Amino acid sequence: MRLSEATGRIRALYPWSGFDCRPLMLPDEEPNYADKQSEAFAVGYMGFKYTVARVLAPERICEIGVCTGVAALAFLAACPSAFYLGIDALTEDRYRKTAMVERTGRRLAERGYHHLIRIGDSQAMDGLPDGPFDLIHVDGDHSRAGAAHDVRLAWEALAPGGFILVDDARDSAVAAGTFDALDGLHPGDTAFAYFEDTWRGNLLVSKERLL
Ligand SMILES: C[S@@+](CC[C@H](N)C(=O)[O-])C[C@H]1O[C@@H](n2cnc3c(N)ncnc32)[C@H](O)[C@@H]1O
Repeated sequence: MRLSEATGRIRALYPWSGFDCRPLMLPDEEPNYADKQSEAFAVGYMGFKYTVARVLAPERICEIGVCTGVAALAFLAACPSAFYLGIDALTEDRYRKTAMVERTGRRLAERGYHHLIRIGDSQAMDGLPDGPFDLIHVDGDHSRAGAAHDVRLAWEALAPGGFILVDDARDSAVAAGTFDALDGLHPGDTAFAYFEDTWRGNLLVSKERLL
């Protein structure tokens, strides 16, 4: 699917997706729990991620940054037969993060989703395992150099016609890192869309040539 077609369909559909996994969130586990109980988060993060997968219909999904699995649940609710690989380094509070990521794995298993969660630091990887992928969600290290590294990994692991979705793109470090990577990989020619009205902003990137 062309980026322009995908973008138009996602913009039109995501406010109405109805996907909402807020009841699964645990108050003492979910980072920024109160903010994420909002309608803005339900529509702009959960509904948006669900709709991206629904429109793109990926068969193989990779996510860098699993955490409590909100995006994983959204992607797989939209594409229940897809394979999902999640990668998480368990940064910050390792003990707490381990419990979160393990719970995510149990939730995916309970729903019968075909998935694999690998504990590892994407910044130490020189390639994503188990590729190629049709959709890669970059939501790990939010530093400029970290985002650039993860977008480069994603680009190399992308199947023909695949898409990279970069979360938190309203963060200028993430946006700058994304374009650092794209400029290095494909100077002078890039295909991306920015969803400015989503939760924290999202960039959708494809490998298609514009020129
Ligand atoms: C913002 S959270 C991801 C939220 C998740 N996508 C969701 O929908 O619930 C960021 C996650 O990225 C992980 N992370 C940070 N740096 C990483 C790295 N270098 N490699 C892999 N995971 C990383 C953190 O441990 C954390 O769980």
